[in-house]
Amino acid sequence: MRNRPLEFDVSLPGGIPDRYDQHTVRRLSSMRGYFADTDSFSSMLAAEDMVLYEVYELVRASAPGELLHGLSVVHPGKVGAEYFMTKGHFHSVLETAEVYYCLQGRGMMVMETPEGDWSVAELRPGRVLHVPPRWAHRSVNVESGQDLVTFFVYPAHAGHDYATIQVAGLRKLVIERDGRPLVVDNPRWCSSGPPQGGDGI
Ligand code: F6R
Ligand code: ZN
Repeated sequence: MRNRPLEFDVSLPGGIPDRYDQHTVRRLSSMRGYFADTDSFSSMLAAEDMVLYEVYELVRASAPGELLHGLSVVHPGKVGAEYFMTKGHFHSVLETAEVYYCLQGRGMMVMETPEGDWSVAELRPGRVLHVPPRWAHRSVNVESGQDLVTFFVYPAHAGHDYATIQVAGLRKLVIERDGRPLVVDNPRWCSSGPPQGGDGI
């Protein structure tokens, strides 16, 4: 595994780094069950399996002391009234934090803890967000016509628990109302108990 200093440039607009090891592309079809408006989801998917977001990652050893980092690009759009967003996850090792730095666009980070706290933070160019340990996080692009680009960095041993959010959802949704983003309760949110841990999905 690489253990030399690493530099790369990020071209803007767009947010594509000039070097990366892994490129994940999340399409609409991989987001079944994540959006509240299931009818809109089905009709959009029937028309086109569009790309909702992409992640460029630099791979490092999953060793204590290492940091994983990369770029997240959430494309603009909505399913019904709900903006395009990432799946969202807890870290499998709950006591691990993450820092996001917004490079482009306008978004919101929707966060919550297993204990019932929730928070929504604004993402805009130049703004840094520290997601503390224990907080699930999902980025939402609230600007029509522009990608939301963030740089992220987190401990290499954190791992990802997607299953808890996939089953239970997050307590809050971000929808467009009267042309503006609005944070509302998720009518389908259900308490799933403690995060399930584990990687994958
Ligand atoms: C890593 C992290 C980000 C996200 C990325 C995509 O811990 O938070 O790199 O992985 O923004 O979101 P998810 O992983 O929720 O599909
Ligand atoms: Zn994370």
